[in-house]
Amino acid sequence: MKIINNPTQYKIKKAAKALKEGHLVAFPTETVYGLGADATNKKAVNRIYSVKGRPTNHPLIVHISSIDQLDKWAINIPEYAVKLANEFWPGPMTLILKRSNLAKDFISGGQDNVGLRVPSQSVALELLKEFEKIGGQGVAAPSANRFGAVSPTNAEAVKEELGIFLQLDDIIVDGGQCLIGVESTILDCTGENPQILRPGKITEIDLRILGISVDSKIGEHFIKFSGSLKSHYSPRAKINLNCLPETGEGFIALSNVKTPIGSIRLAAPDNAVQFAQQLYAALRLGDSKNLTCISVIPPTDSGIAIAINDRLTKASQDR
Ligand code: TXA
Ligand code: MG
Repeated sequence: MKIINNPTQYKIKKAAKALKEGHLVAFPTETVYGLGADATNKKAVNRIYSVKGRPTNHPLIVHISSIDQLDKWAINIPEYAVKLANEFWPGPMTLILKRSNLAKDFISGGQDNVGLRVPSQSVALELLKEFEKIGGQGVAAPSANRFGAVSPTNAEAVKEELGIFLQLDDIIVDGGQCLIGVESTILDCTGENPQILRPGKITEIDLRILGISVDSKIGEHFIKFSGSLKSHYSPRAKINLNCLPETGEGFIALSNVKTPIGSIRLAAPDNAVQFAQQLYAALRLGDSKNLTCISVIPPTDSGIAIAINDRLTKASQDR
């Protein structure tokens, strides 16, 4: 595998070419790093599943360079979804829509819908544009971690997670630290109103401000959804929520919470936004120190704190 540092236009073009040739390219987005493949190339997409160790019936998000590409991949798009796309793309939002013929079973896990997202991170957008210039239609990209593990928020973490599973011509594009740090908000847009399947930076309040009603039947959903498995986003260490650590255990909390004597502070962010940015790297740090337990006191406000609590609740489930 090759690592591209300081991705210039020229280097991004090379990465786009590698995608077109059927290789895997891990790339930064504003949320987390993705493991990309040509979304129309069955062989390449199958490699995503084997590199991640992910069951093939879990659908993948297709990344496109702009709202103009939406009609290629989706049909029967409701008005509210167009409104959402106009408002929040490029950005940390994935829309689940009825699929067009372009979205094959190997992308959708055999369902009749497809997940679509236009990321805002500049390297990601440039990569998607260059890929489309040479005939590409969209890039399938799950988070660049092994199935069930913590998403990577920097290139080093991608290498640690997937390095040994990648092939010689695969690429990791190093675009620095992810700005948001937790995965995109996923909205099911196949019904009369959107439903939030996975909370993220864009929240229910943001939708309501636009005058869009939200169906809040999260949970028992007919759509297959790997993020909805009980245990997910998990480091090796056991996560204990809302309690103080014992001696020798890891600790993550806002900076105004003191570190109990004898415990190992893994992060001390000043607010919820920083908490999201630092969380996954802090969990990885705990694993690199071979800690058995990490205590986490998450922020309790609304906004991104909802996504933080969602991921931590899943990470703390028994495996
Ligand atoms: O922020 C993100 O969304 C990142 C970056 C790389 O874009 N991607 C990401 O992908 O988190 P992934 O595959 O790790 O998580 C996407 C979740 C999975 O649980 C998947 O099953 C679900 O979204 N999903 C994807 N397409 C779907 C669909 N058509 N219907 C229902 N769920 C879908
Ligand atoms: Mg994931």
